[in-house]
Formats: sequence, C-alpha cells, structure tokens
Amino acid sequence: MNRLIVKKSGPLKGELRVPGDKSISHRAVILGSIAEGETEIRGLLRGEDSLNTLRAFRKMGVAIRDEGERIIIQGAGLSGLQEPEGVLDMGNSGTGMRLLVGLLAGRDFFAVLTGDEYLRRRPMERVTRPLRMMGASILGREDARLAPLAIRGGGLRGMEHVSPVSSAQVKSSLLFAGLSASGRTSVTEPTLSRDHTERMLRQFGYVVEREGTTVSVQGGGALSACSVDIPADFSSAAFFLVAASLIEGSQVVLRDVGINPTRVGLLKILQRMGSGIRVDRKEGGEEPTADLFVRGGDLAGTTVLPDEVPSTIDEFPILCVAAAFARGETKISGAAELRVKETDRIRAMVENLRAVGAEVEEYDDGLAIRGRDTLRGGLCKSFGDHRVAMSMAVAGLRCDRGTTIEDVSCIQTSFPGFRESLQRVSREQQ
Ligand code: S3P
Repeated sequence: MNRLIVKKSGPLKGELRVPGDKSISHRAVILGSIAEGETEIRGLLRGEDSLNTLRAFRKMGVAIRDEGERIIIQGAGLSGLQEPEGVLDMGNSGTGMRLLVGLLAGRDFFAVLTGDEYLRRRPMERVTRPLRMMGASILGREDARLAPLAIRGGGLRGMEHVSPVSSAQVKSSLLFAGLSASGRTSVTEPTLSRDHTERMLRQFGYVVEREGTTVSVQGGGALSACSVDIPADFSSAAFFLVAASLIEGSQVVLRDVGINPTRVGLLKILQRMGSGIRVDRKEGGEEPTADLFVRGGDLAGTTVLPDEVPSTIDEFPILCVAAAFARGETKISGAAELRVKETDRIRAMVENLRAVGAEVEEYDDGLAIRGRDTLRGGLCKSFGDHRVAMSMAVAGLRCDRGTTIEDVSCIQTSFPGFRESLQRVSREQQ
C-alpha cells in the first residue's frame, strides 16, 4: 500500500464501523497488563501503534492471548512486570512511548524504549523532565529530550506537576508513574485533555480525583481486571464525517463511534460550518458512544478558537481539507502543538493543500485557508503521517484530477482497511 490514488467521486453512501479507538486501545493493553486477574478486551485497534504496545508487554512477561474477536490478558499486577531482555520498539507511537516511560519509571528494572525515525524526533522532555523530578533515572539523546530512552525505574516520589501544554500523554505518563510513587501525584493542565486514562483507571477500580483541570492519584493501590469494550475511533470516523459532508447528496452512517466530550471538537466545528450530522447516542459503557448520520451539503468557513484545540487536536489535517472546500475563510490559531505531532502537521498541510491548488497562509501556531468550490488536485506527500495521508485521500474525492498520495504505509498505524472503507462508500472504484 505504498501509493494511494483517489479519484473525484459522486455522493458517498453506506455504513461503516471504523476500527477501535487508538488512545483507548493503548490504555486497555497497559492497564490490563498491570491489573490483577484476567482482562477481556473487545474491539482493540489492530493498528501498528497499539500492536507495538501489546508486543512491549509480552516482552515484559505478560501473557496476552489473541482470540480474534477478543484479546485476553493475564494481568501481571503492577509489581509483576519483568525486565525486558531487548529494546522495546514503539514504532511511530508517541502515546505508546510517553505512557510507557511513565509506567516504567516506577518499575524497579532497566528498560530501553525506541521508535521509528519520526518518533525519535519528537520531544520527550515534557515527560522525562517531570519524571526525573519524581526521582526517575532516565537517559536519552540530548539529555533525554529525544529517544531512545533508557530507564532505570523505582523509588519515585509523588509530585504536583503544572503542565504548560494540554496533553493527555503527559498527564497519563505522570499518572502511571504516580501509581508506583509514594504519596500523591497530580497533574494540572491549561484545558482538560482527553480523559480516557482517568475513566479507565476508575473502570479498573483505581481512585482518581479531579478538580477543574487537576487530576490526581495516590500511589500504592492495585488495579482489578475487567472487561473493556473499545468504541470505534472518532479520529478515524472523522475522515468520513468530512468526506460525506463535502459531497452533496452523500449519506453515510458511522456506527458505535466514541463521542467522549474531550475528543469531539470537530463535530461541533463541522456542525457550525453547516454540516448535517445527527448524533444518536447509545446507552451504557464507561466511554459514551453514538451512531453518526452524515449528509453532504454546503460548508462555510469558520474561526477555530484556541480553547477548541485540545478536543480537536488530531483532526486538524482533515479539518483543513473541509476548510479548503468551504465558502469563505477558515482560521486556526493557538495550535502550535501540531508542529510536534507525527510530523509538523501545519507545514505538511500547507504544502499539500498548495500542491492541489488551495490558497493557504501559514502561521507559527496555525493557518488560514480560503475555500474554493473545486481544486485541481495532484501529487501529495504523507510525510510519514497517517492522518496527513488519509486527509489528502479525502481531498481527492473533490479534486478535479483527484489526488495521489505517496508513502501511505503509515496509514497502518491507526486505520488498517482505510482504502477499502473509502472504496465501499465511494461510487468510483479507487
Ligand atoms: C493521545 C494524546 C494526544 C493525541 C494523540 C493521542 C493520547 O497527544 O494527539 O494522538 O492517546 O493520549 P498529546 O498528548 O501530545 O496532545
């Protein structure tokens, strides 16, 4: 799957259940592995990112059985993890790496974490600095700013950390360290980031307190195994929400999508832009889910406010595509974090949108896009980033000459089967 060619399409039709939520999948494997007893996971994302986390726990001695429909984990308990003999390779996953650094900082053994060329360029000091303050011994390139990271864990003290960025990876990393620390560990962030860790810790019987944007745990407790049902990933559904919104006459249903309020900024923004999306909420579960019914229509540009950024953080590449075809201008600011994702997503989207003929202006912390009814299309680059690749594929559905995206193997990190799903709802054969 190294090149993806997408042609201009007529209305999209059909029903999809996109793969399991990536963030929740990582957390289910981590908490199942350190819980006491047998955890059953349904709907785990079989993407490279979550599979790398699963492989890491197998290397630390955790028995994980794959029965197809479900994954069964024999929890080792927090103190039952074993020192891995080899390096733990987290592939492309910032979440996998940052969450594991935190967890392993509290374990009394030696571990080395690495990742692919993209992950090895991403900033790690946002977790390694506070973890060192808790007493962890961590070495890495540029004084542990970059992976590979070598951790000699144990002997942590709880602390109060005020994070300058709203980041669920930072919050979760420190809370996982806090499980093994003496006393209390709390993390305060400017705006509440996704709260899957807090919800899932509670589901495993661990007490988590929250006051405003401060979340805390007390070290030394235990987690008890449970059953986890993973909803379809809102961030994967987002490509089809936008695709269907962009093409007049489309009608697409997305089943069982996670609609955790800390994740669905794009839903509100698209509705504000004029997209016809109906949300049918479902009962039960620790994570709220819904079926989403989308109809195509005319979109209007909008201004995205800085406090909408955390709940939209992974959806900016596809939002940029929506903006490129919306009437008027769309402005995004306060989103400098996009520069340190799998790639610099501001740069990547500016370059790709210009390559297909869009009018875009780049800022340090965002971009402005003037929408057009149609665009020329052409050759796009993934920059090794799954969400950039899928966004430019969706753009192709409305470009005169379609789009060709190079180097799309990265899509496997979060959305195996993306090409087939796109084919299913699109009338043109891609
Ligand atoms: C994630 C948190 C976000 C998000 C990433 C997944 C998580 O990153 O962009 O895709 O699962 O905790 P930050 O914490 O860096 O914002």
